Amino acid sequence: MSALTRSKIVPGTEGYSEDAESLISRYEGVPFTEKYKAVLHLLPTKASKILDIGAGTGVDAAWLATKGHCILAVEPTDQLREAGAKLHPSSQIEWLDDSLPMLLKTMARKEVFDLVLVTAVWTHLAEKERKQAMSNIAALLKPVALLIMSLRHGPTPASRRVFEVTAEETMELAQRDGLREALYMRTESAQPINRQAGVMWSWLAFQK
Ligand SMILES: C[S@@+](CC[C@H](N)C(=O)[O-])C[C@H]1O[C@@H](n2cnc3c(N)ncnc32)[C@H](O)[C@@H]1O
Repeated sequence: MSALTRSKIVPGTEGYSEDAESLISRYEGVPFTEKYKAVLHLLPTKASKILDIGAGTGVDAAWLATKGHCILAVEPTDQLREAGAKLHPSSQIEWLDDSLPMLLKTMARKEVFDLVLVTAVWTHLAEKERKQAMSNIAALLKPVALLIMSLRHGPTPASRRVFEVTAEETMELAQRDGLREALYMRTESAQPINRQAGVMWSWLAFQK
């Protein structure tokens, strides 16, 4: 790998490799059913193809794999992706080094999914990137499929690239790309440290 390749930072991932060590244990410590409680009732009950974009350490993918699903876990931060592959070895989870908004490698596979997860990722994208990303995500959904997103509101670590993003803007983008709103809910953070800091989440689900 050349020095140029090594120093490339995917927009949105700023601060993640530096903090990876502490983030790995934090992500792994949040129970899936607590984090996803707003949307649990919407998850597929039969074995499905799931795309988890910005999958972190794959803790969510691992839970979904135990339910019989096959997951493509897209994660651009090397440290998180590599830790995830070691922590959650599973024939039902495939890891891919790819990133929003273009998802070039994911799109090149010409696959479509029953469910796409974009949890705790969207606010790392700038306005123009969010528009491009939504169109690409919509194209990755099967004709009948679900998109689940969570948006973080409130204080963020200084090293991260974070934009103020509203649920309303996200709904407009989704609608523009032919997706119908199925759920919108505001929740407290499932992580005690973030709850104490006043972090809130918008949970959104869109139906294709
Ligand atoms: C707060 S973590 C959330 C991880 C996981 N989705 C979860 O809910 O535990 C944000 C993740 O988004 C990833 N990320 C940041 N910018 C991204 C981009 N442009 N495309 C895809 N993922 C990105 C980071 O590397 C990190 O793994």
